[in-house]
Amino acid sequence: MGGCPLVHCHENGPGGVHIGDSDQMSMIDSDRGERGGTWGSSEAAAEWMRGAAARVQPFGPATERMLDLANIRSGNQVLDVGAGAGDQTLAAARRVGPTGFVLATDISASMLGVTAMSARQAELSNVGTRVMDAQNLDLESDSFDAVISCDALMLIPDIRKALAEMQRVLRLGGTVAAIVFSTPEKCPYLSIPHTIARRVGALTTPSDPFGEFRLAGPDVLSDACSKAGFHEVAIHRFLTRRRFPSLADAMQYAKGPLPLRELMAQLTPVQREQAWAEIEKALQQFVGPDGYDSPCELLIGVGTK
Ligand SMILES: C[S@@+](CC[C@H](N)C(=O)[O-])C[C@H]1O[C@@H](n2cnc3c(N)ncnc32)[C@H](O)[C@@H]1O
Repeated sequence: MGGCPLVHCHENGPGGVHIGDSDQMSMIDSDRGERGGTWGSSEAAAEWMRGAAARVQPFGPATERMLDLANIRSGNQVLDVGAGAGDQTLAAARRVGPTGFVLATDISASMLGVTAMSARQAELSNVGTRVMDAQNLDLESDSFDAVISCDALMLIPDIRKALAEMQRVLRLGGTVAAIVFSTPEKCPYLSIPHTIARRVGALTTPSDPFGEFRLAGPDVLSDACSKAGFHEVAIHRFLTRRRFPSLADAMQYAKGPLPLRELMAQLTPVQREQAWAEIEKALQQFVGPDGYDSPCELLIGVGTK
């Protein structure tokens, strides 16, 4: 099936994402985070866009594996949930080809603005974007061949509801494949800064494990998929690396608009300085002759409707 039969393509979001004639981030008029949370502002989207090259090495091969596991083929209708700046959206769009279609959804209009712009730059006309909360997909049931999600599912407040919605919109026999982070000790680049910031700021953890690691524990992701009604649930481990030319580069990337930045904002300036100094010292253990290099294990949850 080709085109965009079930969805409205390139819609303006509630905050009025406007992709104009110029490919400038200044053209993206976002909802300034009202609904988009951490990634809601245009600054966050711009920062995420700047980090695109740094994401290719750790997440590019994992994304291709996710698309394999989702069994995405030419002509497929694919839904991307928490699409963000659309790295995996574009990869999926290349696989489904001109007779297929990929709908990128996200709660942040700004992030989807980047996706739409990137699709246009890549001359992919088979990509649409819609601002949507993953917990309440405004989409017809049984309408997609595959649902994908990268680095987003664990951030959604009601994960079970989001998975149930993904299951609802899949056609019978369709597949969901979602990438999430493995346990904190297997993702030190992410977990060390968070742990230090919390300790230095004496911050209580609202949920444990925090944010990014909510689906990392044994059987957590597979149980969630099964409870949402998926069959043939399997969890695939994917080992990747976080590599940067130097520790300074790793530190600079860590200071991006991620949940860590929000965490750091809760610290006093003195605590912040102390936390960053401690993080730099702790991450030093991963510096070798070729720069910064630490392991990062991802989980890819797969299920069938
Ligand atoms: C870490 S980013 C990942 C973006 C992209 N998938 C990638 O891997 O580059 C997480 C994304 O999830 C989105 N998100 C968070 N909560 C959401 C929700 N309830 N519904 C839809 N998207 C959500 C954020 O706006 C953000 O774009």
